[in-house]
Amino acid sequence: MKKKLLKNLAVGIDLGTSNLLIYVEGEGTVFNEPSILAMDIATKTVVAVGKEASSLVGKTHDKVKIIKPLQGGVVSDIDMIKEILFFTLEKIFQSKINTIGTLIICIPSEITDTEKSAIIELTHGLGIGDVLIEEEVKAAAIGCGLDIHTPQGHLVVDIGGGTTDFGVLSLGEVVLSKSIKTAGDYFDKQIIDHVKEAHKLEIGLQTAEKIKISLASLTGNLPVDEENKNLQYKAMGRDLVSGLPKEATITAKEIRKLLLYCFENIKAVTIATLEATPPELAGDLVDNGILLSGGCSQIPGIKEYFEKITHVPVHISESPMTAVVDGCKKLLKAEKKYYLGTL
Ligand SMILES: Nc1ncnc2c1ncn2[C@@H]1O[C@H](COP(=O)(O)OP(=O)(O)OP(=O)(O)O)[C@@H](O)[C@H]1O
Ligand SMILES: [Mg+2]
Repeated sequence: MKKKLLKNLAVGIDLGTSNLLIYVEGEGTVFNEPSILAMDIATKTVVAVGKEASSLVGKTHDKVKIIKPLQGGVVSDIDMIKEILFFTLEKIFQSKINTIGTLIICIPSEITDTEKSAIIELTHGLGIGDVLIEEEVKAAAIGCGLDIHTPQGHLVVDIGGGTTDFGVLSLGEVVLSKSIKTAGDYFDKQIIDHVKEAHKLEIGLQTAEKIKISLASLTGNLPVDEENKNLQYKAMGRDLVSGLPKEATITAKEIRKLLLYCFENIKAVTIATLEATPPELAGDLVDNGILLSGGCSQIPGIKEYFEKITHVPVHISESPMTAVVDGCKKLLKAEKKYYLGTL
């Protein structure tokens, strides 16, 4: 592939279902906020993105609409992707978006070729000439410090908000990959259904996420401290019978049971991926183990859980929620070095 002159700034974007992260060369990660935007319905203009928009969830009047442009790892609205990228980049670059020379954008792997082309087109529309789309698992592996360019095989499992992505990498490429919708958002929805059924309480998505982050665990033999730390969560919601506000006490034990049930699918795909890995790479996986990244890889007990089901060593990314954007940064550096080397 002919390399273009990398003029101006290099930028890397992790366009995740839950979080949008933007790295700018020379400045670092300058944006790390929820992938949410708030739009004025009448004027069809964006009024807030990220944290600001997220604080409006469930509290907006009918003139403002809250939009998540990516849902379940797929593009739910390409125009809204354009809006969130444009609004955020404009916030960072103050109308100088065209100073971006090279852009690497990591997107969930389930996105179709048509959607990929649409994303490239819209970034060209913003005046960005050199745009590269990268797979999330590849960027995550690089971001975690794996040397994926050797003939050694590595298995990366990225458990994010919309999807869990499985990728076997070797010689710098994704040899095998799979993406499923069992991830953070799905766990939240399962918590909502469970609380409704077991406690006759209606709770919102934000409460469900707080319950997950406070109580989730995957093994029953965690250290006592870990067990006691957040044994219960007092959730506020609406009583299904009376319709009045009510509080219910949710326990770590019931959330663990629910989560173990949700993880059955992740377990099945992990095993299927190991089984489908070409034999010459499968041996490497036994030595190199599995690398977990993504926000949900922070669930206590996840390492022990994966080691028990796979019998291979499991490593957790040091910075699971920034691994992808960290990988973008390294990819941009490698790209620049490669270009300079060919001058
Ligand atoms: N400490 C934690 N324990 C459990 N889950 C967590 C924790 N912190 C964040 N999460 C969950 O991680 C998910 C977000 O992870 P991440 O930022 O990796 O997703 P994403 O990259 O935006 O999504 P995707 O890669 O699926 O498009 C959310 O569901 C969030 O609730
Ligand atoms: Mg992600």
